[in-house]
Amino acid sequence: MPGIVIVGAQWGDEGKGKATDALGDRVNYCVRYSGGNNAGHTVVVGGQKFTMHLLPSGILNTNCTCVIGNGVVVDLDVLAEELAGLRARGLDVRHPLISADTHIITSYHQVLDKVTERFAGNRRIGTTGRGIGPAYSDKINRIGIRAQDLLDPDGLAAKVQASLASKNQLLVKVYNRAAIRAEDVTEALLAHADELRPYIVDTSRVLNQALANGQVVLFEGAQAHHLDIDFGTYPYVTSSNPTAGGACTGTGVAPTHLDRIVGIVKAYTTRVGEGPLPTELLDEDGERLREDGGEFGATTGRPRRCGWFDALPVAQAGMVNGFTDVFLTKLDVLTGWPEIPVCVGYEVDGVVTDIWPMTEREVEVARPVYERLPGWTEDISRVRVFDDLPATCQAYVKRLEALIGTRISGMGVGPGRDQNIIINSLM
Ligand code: GDP
Ligand code: IMO
Ligand code: MG
Repeated sequence: MPGIVIVGAQWGDEGKGKATDALGDRVNYCVRYSGGNNAGHTVVVGGQKFTMHLLPSGILNTNCTCVIGNGVVVDLDVLAEELAGLRARGLDVRHPLISADTHIITSYHQVLDKVTERFAGNRRIGTTGRGIGPAYSDKINRIGIRAQDLLDPDGLAAKVQASLASKNQLLVKVYNRAAIRAEDVTEALLAHADELRPYIVDTSRVLNQALANGQVVLFEGAQAHHLDIDFGTYPYVTSSNPTAGGACTGTGVAPTHLDRIVGIVKAYTTRVGEGPLPTELLDEDGERLREDGGEFGATTGRPRRCGWFDALPVAQAGMVNGFTDVFLTKLDVLTGWPEIPVCVGYEVDGVVTDIWPMTEREVEVARPVYERLPGWTEDISRVRVFDDLPATCQAYVKRLEALIGTRISGMGVGPGRDQNIIINSLM
């Protein structure tokens, strides 16, 4: 099973980092294919917590070569800081390979992200402020800076100059901000050039060769289906394609190499930032889910909005991404509720549907229709075999499986690396 894709099925923070790490030292290559340091992927090993924003979570497995694919946007300062941070904690981590085509986030992307959000007022997206949207805009506008430009300082300087010219007009005349000097940006980028030079390679070729040799390549998605620029709750989305297709366009590996598409699904629902969330709980139940699940953003520290499990967005993600398996996370967080509501439909304009609506307006007005499942009180965090779970917990998982329409091959019962119940091996 050489090509495995990990995709978030909801609005992010489903536990993709933990699922990636749990596949362990059988993974030869771990590649990020979309997003940037807007992600926050948490892995807990031996009681120690590690949060990766840009580095693939496979970095904690010494066997694994990490790759930053062309579909990612890279902040070079963050890359250096993250590596230094892990090394300072005594880990012997290898530098990831970086696609020569990967776009770079510069200081002007970060400034623009923040000022446009402020300017948008109540139309703001609630971005992470990391410069993600502006960096992808430049990529699409064909005025981006790529990793390979670090290898050609004169070419880099000219590209930064060209890209900044119109942005400075905007910054000064519209946003009333100081202009940014192209020389300063170029200098800051070139400060990383010597260190990065050996790692800037044709990663598509590296990954294709690995697959041809029967090695295991794990494509680690960031963000999630409903934050996808095409399939998410637009405009409240990120600016890339976290969905499974992004694993191909974001790495240069063909769809024929993708053997398993694993949807990572949280046993309830969370979201950070603005945008619709049909099952959101604005009462003490939502507060309790947030506390029990530790639902505070791994990147910005913002409290995550919480709600009951919603089958409609997850089934939709299953269809679009072609999930072969689902990994259900944070089941342990639901321990202690007498009854657990699960959303099985939406009432939209007086009509009940069990299909994810087509339009933005319908999602915004959707009123969830709940089915109430019996809960459990037993501590399940030490359970490792499905049949040892309380009967009502087993029934909860089985009901979710039927609603999602994809087999649940594993589940998480705690944040630790080994706190999993595996039904079907993912490789
Ligand atoms: P990601 O962005 O999808 O990688 O997810 P995050 O790391 O942002 O958020 C998931 C949080 O849940 C992290 O704090 C994980 O340590 C934690 N986590 C992951 N799986 C489980 C689980 O099965 N049970 C519990 N209790 N926590 C989990
Ligand atoms: P992981 O990989 C949750 C959200 C932001 C905002 C929107 C756009 O940890 O699941 P951006 O900075 O990308 O332009 O912000 O997307 N967002 C995430 N929410 N988890 C993430 O990543 C996210 N990455 C971006 O909160 O609403
Ligand atoms: Mg996260």
